[in-house]
Amino acid sequence: MTGKDQAPAVRGGLFVTLEGCDGCGKTTQLGLLQGALVREGYDVLCLREPGGTPISEAIRALLLDPAHAEMAPECELLLFEASRAQLVRERIEPALAAGQVVLCDRFYDSTTAYQMAARGLDAEQVHRANELGSCGVTPDLTLVLDLDPGVALARATGSGADRMEGEGTAFQAKVRAAFLDLAEREPQRVRLVDADVAPAQVHERVLGLVHAALASCVTEGLRP
Ligand code: TYD
Repeated sequence: MTGKDQAPAVRGGLFVTLEGCDGCGKTTQLGLLQGALVREGYDVLCLREPGGTPISEAIRALLLDPAHAEMAPECELLLFEASRAQLVRERIEPALAAGQVVLCDRFYDSTTAYQMAARGLDAEQVHRANELGSCGVTPDLTLVLDLDPGVALARATGSGADRMEGEGTAFQAKVRAAFLDLAEREPQRVRLVDADVAPAQVHERVLGLVHAALASCVTEGLRP
């Protein structure tokens, strides 16, 4: 397929999230994935969390500023959720309703991994906060790029650490363990991808998983 005029419509859209610890290579893979899907003719929207709307980007600046070392874990949780709710209402829901493929760099699984598993906030409270922040929207497919947190963090902090990255390797190890746990608990939705290989190989696996998800919801009869 080449060009948008040949794009199959995606019934109800497809929501794909990428997850992993800091420096696992998500941003590179999102760019490669977006490029491949656009070349195939899909209508793709690429977003990141926290961020993606003016309000959410302002919250992102608050969250990641290393100057805010005193931020309470509860404040952190609620700010991530506030940023998410705005992104869902303003960008994600309309895009899915329009049949777009939405790719998001992180979503509520990051809150489970970072605020619950690594920060130690109560599991039930984080679960309920995630329900509210996501406005009930669940990814169709979540790809966890798995990489040793020491290797990943060294990559991520090459040009200076933000407030979350400043938490160090032990924190990132808890984040990684939480993602591995999520993949075990929800094997249909959450798929592990070994990120300790060449970017082209990671991309091949990522694209294969996304193609499989698309195959189950593409309506060949409907064309834009
Ligand atoms: P970012 O620079 O986007 O990092 P990355 O490229 O690794 O995604 O910063 C986002 C940081 O916020 C990252 O350290 C993960 C963290 N985070 C949470 O702690 N909870 C969340 O719910 C989300 C979405 C991100």
